[in-house]
Amino acid sequence: MPPRLPVRCSLRRTIAKRRHLRPFLYLSFLLFLSLLILHLASFILRRANSLGRCCYPPSPPISLSFSFPRSKIAIVTLSDESKESEIYYPGGWKRRSFVGVRNAVWGNKRRYAERMGYGFVDATTLVDRSRPPNWSKVLAVRSSLRFYDWVFWNDADTVITNSDVSLESILFGLIGHGDVQSSPDLVVTEDLNGVNSGVFFIRKSDWSQRFLEKWWNQTSFVQFGSTKSGDNAALSHLIDHLPQEELQLHVLISPMQCLFNSYPWYPSWKSYHLLISPRKTWQGVYSNGDFIVHLAGLDNKRGWALKLLQDV
Ligand SMILES: *[C@@H]1O[C@H](CO)[C@@H](O)[C@H](O)[C@H]1NC(C)=O
Ligand SMILES: *[C@@H]1O[C@H](CO)[C@@H](O)[C@H](O)[C@H]1NC(C)=O
Repeated sequence: MPPRLPVRCSLRRTIAKRRHLRPFLYLSFLLFLSLLILHLASFILRRANSLGRCCYPPSPPISLSFSFPRSKIAIVTLSDESKESEIYYPGGWKRRSFVGVRNAVWGNKRRYAERMGYGFVDATTLVDRSRPPNWSKVLAVRSSLRFYDWVFWNDADTVITNSDVSLESILFGLIGHGDVQSSPDLVVTEDLNGVNSGVFFIRKSDWSQRFLEKWWNQTSFVQFGSTKSGDNAALSHLIDHLPQEELQLHVLISPMQCLFNSYPWYPSWKSYHLLISPRKTWQGVYSNGDFIVHLAGLDNKRGWALKLLQDV
């Protein structure tokens, strides 16, 4: 029979055991705390608009009966659901798929366009297979532009969440007048990474046609097999390298991303962005009442689209 330990000794042992547990307890506590903070952040961000965020630029005073001058506008989009549009993790796990996105959001877009009197163009047949399908937005926009004053490009993974907002009111708010001919040609938003090519306005003009041609010509940016296909980087590059004067005359960047390109926010490993650029996150985060949501960077496109459509 082993000698019994003196009481003090066994006490010391249990304490030692507990000490062993301590880092684990601390870690669980930290994990719990960060989850709590993340959920709180997501709760607050979703309510950005009621907490005083304003996506509209302060517009010139207009009388309530003011009606915007009618211009011909089309929403142009495409959705490639072929194998080529799928993205895999190394090892073969499917990462991102656009399957089912068209079924989920086309009705939403069509109804909105019909109600507002805009054209709706599905340019899926124009997809050029020699590049990732994302690039074909350039072809789609270019081919529609001659029939309209403005084309409003929408990536496939976008959902209109407030159909009371008109495209004219967005353009008027930004530009300050409704005269198409003296408007900037390209109207875009910026996110954490700079200009975003997922949702933008482009006006019928010689400048726009040439710009689209230059964009398509940026072949060195074409990238296969990644969530980035290069079309966005090419657009940023072009805009960054425009002479200052040309930039001022032709390109308008919305001061607030949430005016027409909001991103949903949810707790994830990317949440540290909130700490690095709280301002940009706040300006772009999807909040109740926003016009359009873009599922940028999200993999389960169809699931997100359906969830958003249920909420609105
Ligand atoms: C292009 O890629 C972006 C980012 O993955 C995505 O949001 C968008 O829907 C894609 N566009 C098309 C036309 O598939
Ligand atoms: C785009 O590339 C084509 C073919 O190389 C060329 O003919 C055209 O001038 C280029 N367009 C612009 C605007 O740079």
